[in-house]
Amino acid sequence: MINVQDVQYIRLRAPDLDKMETFLSEFGMHRSARTDKALYMRGTDAEHTVHITELGEPAFLGMAFNAASEADLGVISELDGASDVLDNDEPCGGKKVILTDPDGLKVEIIHGINKLEAIPVKEVTPFNSGSRRRRVGPIVRSYPRPSQIKRLGHIVLRCGDFKGCEEFYRNKLGMLVSDFLYRGEEDNPGDNAAEFLRCNRGQEYTDHHTILVTDADEAGLGHVAFEVEDWNDLSVGHWHMQGTDYTHNFGLGRHILGSQLFDYWSDPWGNNHEHWTDGDLLNEDTEAGSFPLHTARDVQWAPPR
Ligand SMILES: [Fe+2]
Repeated sequence: MINVQDVQYIRLRAPDLDKMETFLSEFGMHRSARTDKALYMRGTDAEHTVHITELGEPAFLGMAFNAASEADLGVISELDGASDVLDNDEPCGGKKVILTDPDGLKVEIIHGINKLEAIPVKEVTPFNSGSRRRRVGPIVRSYPRPSQIKRLGHIVLRCGDFKGCEEFYRNKLGMLVSDFLYRGEEDNPGDNAAEFLRCNRGQEYTDHHTILVTDADEAGLGHVAFEVEDWNDLSVGHWHMQGTDYTHNFGLGRHILGSQLFDYWSDPWGNNHEHWTDGDLLNEDTEAGSFPLHTARDVQWAPPR
């Protein structure tokens, strides 16, 4: 077992890379590489890639998690079914081990991904509140434009083999349960239908969830979620997207579990992409919560779905 440190990129497949690049650019990413076969997109952080689209029939192919060290790649390569430690021949570089999760998804464990110069983030203005004045002097002037995606934050997995998947991500990749979701209204830990999982970074604080595994009839992507700068950036991105023909799914709102502010949009093939900001941060000492399943979809506030 190793403790993965974060999720790095999602891997989708789509029949038109131009169309995907246009959507992702409006959504707030930047192209880092393009080949005949694939599109690589980045956020403002230095890491080369947060989103890969391979050319072909629409599909959710898998994702990559960051290993803490190259030594951890050696450890994970010993697992049954794991590849050797490979030099990554894609533009994002680094070394990786390829695994397959119980649902057949490609799970890459990557280390040493190429870094580019970080993209400066615009319009970072502290928020004033009734009791704390953080912005004294500077004036806010922000208008609709694409959000500034910083990084990939989490992926929701619809699991055909829910039990197998939750064991795989907890036992092989070292993930911790932030919240169990049980069926019905009575707490029934033996009958969970979903789990929010976070990375184990010891005392260091990390996102409330890096993946959400959910019990489903068929394996697939629930959604993929990218962190943006702040509430202002989320909002101007929302109104920018409202001026396009893309499909809005849900938001703006604030979730209960994870607490993040959110906004959801579909890519041209119906893959649900989320912008989020201001989520909860936990560490290894945080105990798991337990809630009825509907809490995963419930919100503190949002317009009707
Ligand atoms: Fe999400």
